[in-house]
Amino acid sequence: MAELSGYRALVTGASGGIGAEVARSLARRGAALVLNARRTEVLEQLAAELRRDHAVTVEVLTADLSQSGAAARLWTAATAGAAVDVLINNAGFGHFRPFGDIAVARESEMLRLNILALVELAHAFVDAHRDRARERPAYLMNVASVAAWQPVPHFATYAASKAFVRNFSEALYLEQRDKAVRVFCLCPGGTLTDFHATAGAGNYGKLANASMLSAAAVAEKGVRAMLRGKKTLVTGVLNKLSCFFTGMLPRGLTSRASMWVMGKPRGGALPTQTVKPE
Ligand SMILES: NC(=O)c1ccc[n+]([C@@H]2O[C@H](COP(=O)([O-])OP(=O)(O)OC[C@H]3O[C@@H](n4cnc5c(N)ncnc54)[C@H](OP(=O)(O)O)[C@@H]3O)[C@@H](O)[C@H]2O)c1
Repeated sequence: MAELSGYRALVTGASGGIGAEVARSLARRGAALVLNARRTEVLEQLAAELRRDHAVTVEVLTADLSQSGAAARLWTAATAGAAVDVLINNAGFGHFRPFGDIAVARESEMLRLNILALVELAHAFVDAHRDRARERPAYLMNVASVAAWQPVPHFATYAASKAFVRNFSEALYLEQRDKAVRVFCLCPGGTLTDFHATAGAGNYGKLANASMLSAAAVAEKGVRAMLRGKKTLVTGVLNKLSCFFTGMLPRGLTSRASMWVMGKPRGGALPTQTVKPE
């Protein structure tokens, strides 16, 4: 029997990048899926592919999770017919610019998506599995970043939002250790996705460019680590080394080093249009 046969997973940010690859990885393991993002057509294409290739049930629930109340509405819709026993809190974005150059409305949108929606969905998930038996655990993956390890100038609010996700996840991991929810924090380093175009970035320093991994590799490593009950995973050897040394060095130094690794922001206009659900 497939490893996740009988499980049903909600994946946010499933229309591309890491989220779409996590959905593929879960479908390969036999999980039924609920796919969320803002672009319905792209989600429907992925849903058709997963139904065809893996014979799993796939639903599409379009929602903009940066909107107030959207996470609660998504949870209600996702659990209306059946339980959700894997939650992948993946949707997120950032801008690679000096803080003062980013419109404050866009900053608020990012913080509502990267932090508030993630916490609201995690809360509903933990609450739903209060009385679950430990023999068949539920799984919660929160996607943070290697940016969570130190302050990152020009990614100031984004990196801080990911530090929140990492700290929150690792605290919840301990709270839930003797219960039935396995909490896991995925910390990707640079991954080849649309994230960088959205961030108004894409060509970082040489080291950052050299350590980029594919979204498929990051997702597969993440799903495997989650199912093994790991607390946190940093993807990529160079990223693992850098996070290890970051933990040992003074914060001022690691923050300056991150400026060197990331290089200078490119400048030019940032994407101003928020994608609206179709
Ligand atoms: N790529 C990297 O180098 C990297 C490194 C570390 C961490 N991460 C983290 O990995 C996660 C996935 O990012 P990615 O690299 O896969 O980027 P991506 O390809 O840009 O994917 C982001 C996903 O989030 C969805 N999304 C964006 N805004 C949303 C909103 N308001 N409501 C609902 N869904 C929304 C997007 O779909 P729609 O546009 O259809 O809504 C898309 O499916 C993020 O949390 C990111 O911070 C990425």
